[in-house]
Amino acid sequence: MALPNNKFAYLALFCFLLGCTNGQLSTNYYSYSCPNLFPTIKHVVGSAIAKEARMGASLLRLFFHDCFVNGCDGSILLDDTPTFTGEKTAKPNNNSVRGFEVIDQIKSAVEKVCPGIVSCADILAITARDSVVKLGGPNWDVKLGRKDSKTASLQDANNDIPPPTSNLSNLTSKYAAKGLSTQDMVALSGAHTIGQARCTNFRDHIYNDTNIDASFARTALLPVCPKVNGSGDNNLAPLDFHTPTTFDNSYFKNLVSMRGLLHSDQELFNGGSTDSLVKSYSSSSTAFFSDFVSAMIKMGDISPLTGLNGEVRKNCRRVN
Ligand code: HEM
Ligand SMILES: *[C@@H]1O[C@H](CO)[C@@H](O)[C@H](O)[C@H]1NC(C)=O
Ligand SMILES: *[C@@H]1O[C@H](CO)[C@@H](O)[C@H](O)[C@H]1NC(C)=O
Ligand SMILES: *[C@@H]1O[C@H](CO)[C@@H](O)[C@H](O)[C@H]1NC(C)=O
Ligand SMILES: *[C@@H]1O[C@H](CO)[C@@H](O)[C@H](O)[C@H]1NC(C)=O
Ligand SMILES: *[C@@H]1O[C@H](CO)[C@@H](O)[C@H](O)[C@H]1NC(C)=O
Repeated sequence: MALPNNKFAYLALFCFLLGCTNGQLSTNYYSYSCPNLFPTIKHVVGSAIAKEARMGASLLRLFFHDCFVNGCDGSILLDDTPTFTGEKTAKPNNNSVRGFEVIDQIKSAVEKVCPGIVSCADILAITARDSVVKLGGPNWDVKLGRKDSKTASLQDANNDIPPPTSNLSNLTSKYAAKGLSTQDMVALSGAHTIGQARCTNFRDHIYNDTNIDASFARTALLPVCPKVNGSGDNNLAPLDFHTPTTFDNSYFKNLVSMRGLLHSDQELFNGGSTDSLVKSYSSSSTAFFSDFVSAMIKMGDISPLTGLNGEVRKNCRRVN
């Protein structure tokens, strides 16, 4: 075999051996170090969703809640210990985020095929994509090369993840703070075409807001969500009542017909600047899919730890 004869080849070899990426993520990051990574993850995600379709939604949401809190660094996966408080009990996460057992299964399957190579942060990114695809949504190449954090922040999780009481300007500013545009925000919100929400998160919208289809609220929502604070708080309703386990554009169709579940959802179509975008996604799943993919890639780029920063956790639930 001829030796590489130019400095670029040596640089490539050097980077391959040391995992250097100059702070850049790349879609082929694990091509040599873990060639079976994608089928390994896809297999576990596929079985988890076959067992419970909602799990695809839960796994997608994990990636969002990871990325919005100091970047996509696996911080959401860290368990609390007597001496460490992670993000799992932050208000948007407590009794709400799920799928950690599936991430554990994926991590152990990945460790079997290439031990010590693949970060938990990258696993979340691939898992989110595979979930969307499995439920009928668009496919894309996932950028990789993130390292895992050694810390987490309960406070940043509470401050940076938008609550469902947000209005349009609250949402826009929370996304802008992460370098994401209003278009990214609307497209990413289309993730609410799958999954479920708890009564405590939509009670005020169905009882107090006037921008909701009244007969929809009465027949589909009031029966599952008692008016009194504290009663039935964990009762579930689908974020997209029409096709709750299919990744399609019906979330936007719902908004146009005033059938958003969360106050924050309906804010995207409430006489404001994002109405036209919601309308266009409601009539073109191609437009929605295309903007969703771009926005997911942008969200996945939020301040990653790369190169020598962070670590590749052995167990996603704790630092090494
Ligand atoms: C725009 C701001 C957002 C707000 C205010 C918001 C809020 C919420 C709330 C309150 C729930 C229900 C949680 C519960 O009741 O336990 C939820 C569920 C969900 N969110 Fe969001 N979210 C937003 C953006 C996103 C984004 C960007 C994604 C992903 C790209 C996402 C994916 C999901 C999914 C898939 C579920 C269902 C999870 C399941 O069934 O386990 N959300 N969201
Ligand atoms: C999280 O939920 C548990 C169980 O409902 C509750 O006991 C605890 O107080 C909550 N923690 C926070 C920080 O809200
Ligand atoms: C929305 O933003 C306003 C300030 O513009 C703030 O007072 C309010 O608490 C925010 N609401 C939410 C739910 O973030
Ligand atoms: C958003 O809500 C805050 C208070 O929560 C208010 O100050 C602001 O005017 C609202 N913005 C819009 C566009 O409704
Ligand atoms: C609705 O608004 C009223 C008055 O602002 C408030 O007292 C009540 O707690 C709110 N929530 C529900 C579910 O009625
Ligand atoms: C209802 O519960 C929420 C927390 O879920 C709280 O913020 C709000 O103040 C409560 N409202 C009333 C009227 O008790």
